[in-house]
Amino acid sequence: MSDRTCDVVVVGAGPTGLSAARTLQAAGKDVVVLEARDRVGGRTWTDHIEGQMYEIGGQWISPDQSALLDLVEELGKETYQRHREGDSVYIAPDGTRTVYNGDMFPVGESTQAEMERLIAQLDELAARIGATAPWEAEDAVELDSVSFHHWLRNQSDDELACANIGMFIAGGMLTKPATAFSALQAILMAASAGSFSHLVDDHFILDRRVVGGMQSVSEQMAAELGEGVVHLNSPVRTIGWTEDSVTVGSDAMTVSAASVIVAVPPNLYSHISYTPHLPRLQQIFHQHQSMGLVIKVHATYPTPFWREDGLCGTGFGAGQLVQEVYDNTNHGEERGTLVGFISDVNADAMFALDEDTRKQRILESLANFLGAQALEPEVFYLSDFGAEEWTRGAYATSYDLGGLHRWGRFQNDPVGPIHFASSDIAAHGYQHVDGAIRIGQDTANKILST
Ligand code: FDA
Repeated sequence: MSDRTCDVVVVGAGPTGLSAARTLQAAGKDVVVLEARDRVGGRTWTDHIEGQMYEIGGQWISPDQSALLDLVEELGKETYQRHREGDSVYIAPDGTRTVYNGDMFPVGESTQAEMERLIAQLDELAARIGATAPWEAEDAVELDSVSFHHWLRNQSDDELACANIGMFIAGGMLTKPATAFSALQAILMAASAGSFSHLVDDHFILDRRVVGGMQSVSEQMAAELGEGVVHLNSPVRTIGWTEDSVTVGSDAMTVSAASVIVAVPPNLYSHISYTPHLPRLQQIFHQHQSMGLVIKVHATYPTPFWREDGLCGTGFGAGQLVQEVYDNTNHGEERGTLVGFISDVNADAMFALDEDTRKQRILESLANFLGAQALEPEVFYLSDFGAEEWTRGAYATSYDLGGLHRWGRFQNDPVGPIHFASSDIAAHGYQHVDGAIRIGQDTANKILST
């Protein structure tokens, strides 16, 4: 066990921790980053399964995610657009499959009109309330006291419109049932992405990917920090603190510094033991930020066969096991790869099955969208962040009902020399890599300005 002294310790070598360390080091600070896993990148993870490269975690960048785009450029990395030529597929709750083009699902005229009305209403709320301090809105308490599910049904009698709109935030983003989070939390999600319309527009929200994979952004940041800065296999167990110093104990080393950035998702804050313990407020509200659960499914085929049928690979079905599917073929590859997402209660149900049945059910769901060829992939893989000790869910955390207006205003406050940062408590780019980069840089700048 070795001891070190430095200016700032960073706990976690995900995009937040590494961008914070990068900013601090550029300002001349001596930084040590302690990472629990045997790799950097956190919820971004590019791996090879049976020789096929998969983005097991975060991968897409939208055009407004300028902090991430700037960083990618600064690192000299290239990006490419997701394949999007061709028609999409929509599966209605009764199982009817329709091929369509454009943004709007092929539902009846009145449901379309209702969806457009709800989208406009959510756009207005997102623009008015914003992502920086949604708890300040005059109707924050009201919006935070009703689930997104019930809020939608208070606005509209059209069940299909409500289910389709709900999917973009529930299964699509927060990965919890729409009954489990508030309308205010949904509005924060929309505002953090620029608007609700952005979440509906897959061309916008799932625009680009990094050549070589998103994890390479973290790998390069770590490499550029230089020898001896990032320590892998170093889970932090304890933080001792006074008003102006910290002693951070990991399995590999103990580091003393003037301050620490805890750059891990909020559901993991309480897995570290603090001496003295954190104030009552933090002890309570850290328990009310919980991870959603989503399975990211990859299936790779000899060719992207759906393109021959004039399909782009995109499919939506709020009532389907796989609620969303996209062409996720890697840059420059001849083989075709699909990615699908199975969220919350459907994810629970899949993990209760044996491996073969689970695979069969999921492939059948992909085949419902794109045809029988989807049943026979060459490679098939499910990402399982719920089973990862150092994440415990996916994609990110959100408050339970009523938590955002009650505690959101305190989530970015430091406790003495302990600063908390992660994409889960970012404003713009909330729950995304872009938010991680922003909050990493902002937290470092806060420390530099004191
Ligand atoms: P992150 O969780 O990435 O990093 C935290 C780090 O802290 C981890 O490396 C962890 O091991 C470490 N750690 C935890 N406890 C520790 C301890 N006690 N001691 C030391 N280290 C500890 N985003 C996006 O922009 N586009 C996308 O397409 C997607 N898609 C997506 C898919 C899936 C399946 C997931 C799981 C996530 C996404 N995301 C995404 C979200 C994105 O990956 C996420 O927002 C960022 O990785 C968050 O970065 P952070 O650094 O904040 O946390």
